[in-house]
Amino acid sequence: MAVLVTGGAGYIGSHTAVALHEAGRDVVVIDNFANSSRKATDAVRALTADSVVVVEADLLDGEALAEVFADHDIDEVIHFAAHKAVGESVQKPLDYYRNNLGSTIGLVDAMVGAGVSRLVFSSSCTVYGQPDEIPVVETAPTGAESPYGWTKYMSEQILRDAAAALDLDVVSLRYFNPVGAHESGTLGEDPNGIPNNLVPVVMQVAVGRLEKLMVFGDDYDTPDGTAIRDYIHVVDLAEGHVAALDALANGLAGCTAINLGTGVGSSVLEVIGAAADAVGAAIPYEIVDRRAGDIEQIYARTEYAAEVLGWRSERDLAAMMRDHWNWQRKNPNGFH
Ligand code: NAD
Ligand code: WQD
Repeated sequence: MAVLVTGGAGYIGSHTAVALHEAGRDVVVIDNFANSSRKATDAVRALTADSVVVVEADLLDGEALAEVFADHDIDEVIHFAAHKAVGESVQKPLDYYRNNLGSTIGLVDAMVGAGVSRLVFSSSCTVYGQPDEIPVVETAPTGAESPYGWTKYMSEQILRDAAAALDLDVVSLRYFNPVGAHESGTLGEDPNGIPNNLVPVVMQVAVGRLEKLMVFGDDYDTPDGTAIRDYIHVVDLAEGHVAALDALANGLAGCTAINLGTGVGSSVLEVIGAAADAVGAAIPYEIVDRRAGDIEQIYARTEYAAEVLGWRSERDLAAMMRDHWNWQRKNPNGFH
């Protein structure tokens, strides 16, 4: 039997494919390489004794998807495939709804057709917006601020309804801010164009691709005035997916939303400091205005993941920066 990993050539999916192999599972990746490179799946295969099967197909292609289920003995699915750029989603909302909701609906159809019932879905802490209480707990109110965020909110709802009607068992994992890379330095994040997220920008400054970092606001109501997030090592996140599949295999039923974070909040200046320590050089930066749409602070309550999945993150901010820098230093231009 095998796990189908949609979007398995992407940043989180590629690390998860490796973690699944290490946990003894057979893996089939499906990806259309819209936001990833063949070199990522080559790196995954190199780390997994060439055992991971890679199928190039679009999840919106129902026939291709049915074929994947027919050709492989799949009994579990992890659904990473999605467009994920918040700003782009505001410019191209229909592309985001079509791709992110269409792929989720098509995937559930194909699972039902093939008699597969266990699904782990990539959701996001973006569904919390700025929570009233932090650390944020899974029962906090949810909503969205962007078309991208709505696709996560709506996908969770679609999966709740599908789980109830179609006898599926689903875990929606609400990721906080994934950073870091595989410790080998052969697998990591490779954003297209100028990155939007903090750590990829910091690392591109460190490697000389960007001149300096713009820090978006130092007038927040936080100890150093910069915004606070819950950064989580991508390998911890990957291991959280293995734990979620194990929980489903062991009888976790219905539809369950679970935070995957560390429970630790770090400010932008703390991240810059940790990155400078890992790199061994200062990261030049300039304070500029707040970025529109940013929240002040969020970090996860992690007790529910520990209780339901038996999973907690293990790697701290220093390890995240060490591994992200190791990847960036060895691959200054990513997979290109
Ligand atoms: P990514 O872009 O690196 O990976 C997504 C992969 O899905 C890419 O390889 C892309 O080519 C593929 N894909 C997209 N649409 C597809 C389609 N229709 N058919 C086949 N393949 C398709 O993104 P990531 O950072 O690895 O994120 C994975 C998932 O986690 C996404 O659902 C994302 O929304 C979610 N998420 C990411 C973050 C983050 O900060 N990276 C945070 C919270 C949630
Ligand atoms: C982190 C902090 C920025 C870049 C986004 C998505 C969210 C989720 C994770 C998927 C913020 C500051 C950043 C820069 C900066 N993705 N920053 N200079 O905003 O928490 O969330 O990614 O679901 O949906 O919105 O992450 O890495 O963009 O920013 O000062 O050049 O770093 O203002 O405070 P964010 P981020």
